[in-house]
Amino acid sequence: MTTTAKPAASDAPKTLPDTPPEVSGLGHSMKRKEDPRFIRGRGHYVDDIQLPGMLYMDIVRSPYAHATIKSINTDKALKIPGVLAVITGETLAKFNLHWMPTLMSDTQMVLPTDRVMYQAQEVAAVIATDRYTAADGVDAVEVDYEQLPVVVDPFKALEPGAPVLRTDKKDKKDNRIFHWEVGDKQGTDRAFSGADVVVKQDIYIPRIHVASIETCGCVADFDRVRGQLTVYMTTQAPHAIRTVFALVAGHVGLSEEKIRIISPDIGGGFGGKVPVYPGYVIATAASVVIGKPVKWIEDRMENLQADSFARDYHITAEVAAKKDGTMTALRIKTLADHGYADAAANPSKFPAGLFSICTGSYDFKNAFAEVDGVYTNKPPGGIAYRCSFRVTEAVHTIERMTDILAHELKVDPADLRLKNFIAPEKFPYKSALGWEYDSGNYSGALRKAMDKIGYAALRKEQAEKRKKGELMGIGISSFTEIVGAGPSKHFDILGIKMFDSCEIRVHPTGKATARFGTKSQGQGHETTYAQIVAEELGIPAAHIEVEEGDTDTAPYGLGTYASRSTPTAGAAGAMAARKIRDKARKIAAYLLEASEADLEWKPGRFSVKGSPDRGVTIQEIAFAAYTNHPQGMEAGLEAVSYYDPPNLTFPFGSYICVVDIDRGTGAVKIRRFVAVDDCGTIINPMIVEGQIHGGLTMGMAPALLEEISYDDQGNVQGGSFMDYLLPTAMETPKWETDKTVTPSPHHPFGAKGVGESATVGAPPAIANAVVDALAHLGVRHIDIPITPEKVWRILKEKGVAE
Ligand code: CDP
Repeated sequence: MTTTAKPAASDAPKTLPDTPPEVSGLGHSMKRKEDPRFIRGRGHYVDDIQLPGMLYMDIVRSPYAHATIKSINTDKALKIPGVLAVITGETLAKFNLHWMPTLMSDTQMVLPTDRVMYQAQEVAAVIATDRYTAADGVDAVEVDYEQLPVVVDPFKALEPGAPVLRTDKKDKKDNRIFHWEVGDKQGTDRAFSGADVVVKQDIYIPRIHVASIETCGCVADFDRVRGQLTVYMTTQAPHAIRTVFALVAGHVGLSEEKIRIISPDIGGGFGGKVPVYPGYVIATAASVVIGKPVKWIEDRMENLQADSFARDYHITAEVAAKKDGTMTALRIKTLADHGYADAAANPSKFPAGLFSICTGSYDFKNAFAEVDGVYTNKPPGGIAYRCSFRVTEAVHTIERMTDILAHELKVDPADLRLKNFIAPEKFPYKSALGWEYDSGNYSGALRKAMDKIGYAALRKEQAEKRKKGELMGIGISSFTEIVGAGPSKHFDILGIKMFDSCEIRVHPTGKATARFGTKSQGQGHETTYAQIVAEELGIPAAHIEVEEGDTDTAPYGLGTYASRSTPTAGAAGAMAARKIRDKARKIAAYLLEASEADLEWKPGRFSVKGSPDRGVTIQEIAFAAYTNHPQGMEAGLEAVSYYDPPNLTFPFGSYICVVDIDRGTGAVKIRRFVAVDDCGTIINPMIVEGQIHGGLTMGMAPALLEEISYDDQGNVQGGSFMDYLLPTAMETPKWETDKTVTPSPHHPFGAKGVGESATVGAPPAIANAVVDALAHLGVRHIDIPITPEKVWRILKEKGVAE
């Protein structure tokens, strides 16, 4: 096969805005409305909240990964002036609050009564008049532990005779949480037996941590007189949390209408702030019992050691193909290490999230995937870290396997992809594992990326360099994502259907407030949501105030994670605005003394067809809605939409990475990285570019640097920033971005999500580039993170390292 350079896909359909800059609807790179407060240090985060009489909580944590608690002595702690209470599992057990449900309908301890299951697990909480006294109290609590055998390796956890970890579950005889499978096993097996070529590879996608700038925390404020609980919380899903709180604590008198969850500004969530962590519940219980506000803010090491973990998938993947390179079947077997509880943030019916997108961008006729979830002595994992529920794991697997197959067949990995892509005319496309992809043009994106980076010239350069013994690699990743959960018929969280919402109120002077059921954590919703409403109503985005995150004011929604905001709440914004426009049309007809059918709409104004001078602006209509509306019509101009998407959206992209490897140290340097993304209609090109820049950096991190591992006693390695290596400006290359635009046919304005595309697409592009640089030495696969040490050992073994 040869690499044929065909013209790149054009940017059609159009990307130019319909509205003028003063309105700033879709397609304008409007500056972010939220940035003036963020860049001036005026953001309002949970830790900024100060309430009169507020107390502080700090947590005693287990030094052991598995141990019996023989006793907890709180006497010394309680003698410290300023320490008011020490809460233990026994305290909570009196109210039956020592265990709580997880989002996957498993159970998790709030505080233990008899046993700890991972290092850094919460053991007791100290409530004091200030943060430092609370910390002194923590030091003074004496816990007597007796160590138990530790289960760290998920494979060993399933061996006969392995200690059964969840002895609290009556009939549990082993450490398997679930077995899940999808696809046609027999058909896939048959395709494998008839294949010309089969490649097989074990791939480990390690446990990593979101490491957001802001750690988790809350201020719980129970008003005893009104029986009302307000919790300011670092949560990405305030409404769902309120419902979970009501379900968990209804029996002690907390009723949903008396609970208010407020998510103020959030300093990065990335999926890590979706679950309910024990600290939230303990602080709330403390406030209810003491009757004063209680603040709990994790420190950095607590955050890195105890919550917000993702990935941890041990995968064996196989691809079957014909001699000519046609991929015919995919078979994947996975062991998922969930830690001691299945607290993954997946939709209920999907124990392995959306891992079944693993056929990726390729037209596989047969596929079968199975996943076993396993308990180990680690903190609960499985959060959807900047990833729509296991898409990162799926994409990494299929993109690595495609390169491994190309290597086996001795063909160019770009050609192999172009041969096997789902063709543009096949959309909507039903995948072998059951998804209906909405739209795509994969070859268009890859050819554009190849043109931009100068692929053919790079391959020539690589051949020259190889002759001189220099190590240069080129890696491609052509990923397909699956984002925007619902539809509610398939997706729910603990039974709560997944949809999202928007409520718009247009005020008499023509300005508007729009409230959404999602919650931005830095993505710029205050700007882009305003742009959506501006596009639909012609009210300038600057005059549309966007609010999210307060359960007392925002309509019920499922929150922001898994790139779902644009496909769901963004769509709800357009639908609510369209309801308002329908009413505005009626008012305009009344004001213009014309029939509705004779009116035409240009953003911001209705006019009479054929008489463009006879018109009324949306601002005039808004005023009339409160001062001069037709008899029999209700006053006001507002609407709400609960949007249940008919399908998910399937953003995609092609990334190409060029690396140079130092023969002496094994250090990998990303020389160039071209990212062509397609998220359908773009709301704000500048914000999308920012999302991709950030995502690429967050994708590079696990590819080259980040991993949380454990020693054989379950001691966490990587529990501080000394050894959990976040990328800095030093490691981050200059990202080169571009786009194609393939609108979603079912989204009200054709948009797909984008927040996670780059985190998902980048790791395999980088891993493929490194393996490509070493392929002539016989290297076929390296597990991420590809650290200099790993590469250096390979070079040493191959006799290449200097
Ligand atoms: O759910 P989350 O906000 O994390 O992800 P998203 O829906 O992909 O959106 C991330 C940011 O990019 C938001 O500010 C979106 O409004 C913006 N975006 C856009 O401008 N155009 C798109 N087609 C998709 C997202």
